[in-house]
Amino acid sequence: MTVTDQVLELPATAQAPAALTFQGVSRIFRGGVEALSPTSLAVRQGEFIAIVGPSGCGKSTLLRLAAGLDRPTAGQIDLGARSLGYVFQDPTLLPWRSVEANIGLGLEIAKVPRRERADKVAQAIALTGLRGFEKALPRTLSGGMRMRVSLARALTGEPEVFLFDEPFAALDEITRQALGDELLALFARQRFAGVFVTHSVGEAVYLSSRVLVMSPRPGRIVAEVAVPTAYPRDPEFRFSTEYSAAVADVSHALRHKAGPRGAL
Ligand SMILES: Nc1ncnc2c1ncn2[C@@H]1O[C@H](COP(=O)(O)OP(=O)(O)OP(=O)(O)O)[C@@H](O)[C@H]1O
Ligand SMILES: [Mg+2]
Repeated sequence: MTVTDQVLELPATAQAPAALTFQGVSRIFRGGVEALSPTSLAVRQGEFIAIVGPSGCGKSTLLRLAAGLDRPTAGQIDLGARSLGYVFQDPTLLPWRSVEANIGLGLEIAKVPRRERADKVAQAIALTGLRGFEKALPRTLSGGMRMRVSLARALTGEPEVFLFDEPFAALDEITRQALGDELLALFARQRFAGVFVTHSVGEAVYLSSRVLVMSPRPGRIVAEVAVPTAYPRDPEFRFSTEYSAAVADVSHALRHKAGPRGAL
């Protein structure tokens, strides 16, 4: 574990070019709310990192900045990727559009020709296990399936950098774990650079090769915990000593490093 405000990288992927870099990035909102203290990090191509931290510490702010949906007050953000996917905590589906029409929305907006659009939508549907539900409306789907639709919609953009803002937070534990496994299967296939924000320490460890721990607002990265277990990860990984050790390290960092006075 290292406390750092320097550029972070994982030895195994240190040679890969950075897909996303933050250098001294801060965000102070109008009215003086400092959401993000100067933060530096680098996510390499093909790397999957997780971010945990207390509510309001600036995790969504960090993702929004990475996606260019907001501008930093100071610092520099480099997106060394041509395409970006963003899965929000809420699936944000259009209720009057079918599953396939929701998934194709981004392609439609990007004016991708109909034929190509249909191919990409069909592929995303197959990858997310939604075959047979193409014509269904969102209100007829379970929460887990709606989240799959949201994931499929983001996949159609063939993201090189994929941002996830607590996508499984509203789901039950079993569904959440199943979607986690499916997400790792997608990661094995597409090898995007993943940044996954979650409140679940176990989920962070299971999915990522390193977990960044943030302090309460104004957020900054106070610890990094490496998860050395190679991909692909087996569901049995959840019962391994490596998993338990990483969970303990992240929990410890949250308790002892992520508080203003040494505690949350
Ligand atoms: N547009 C905005 N204007 C003013 N303040 C904002 C704005 N967006 C976020 N904030 C503030 O910035 C801080 C960080 O918000 P952010 O949404 O990034 O937190 P978070 O870590 O994602 O929290 P949670 O875990 O609850 O989702 C909060 O205090 C929030 O009130
Ligand atoms: Mg948030």
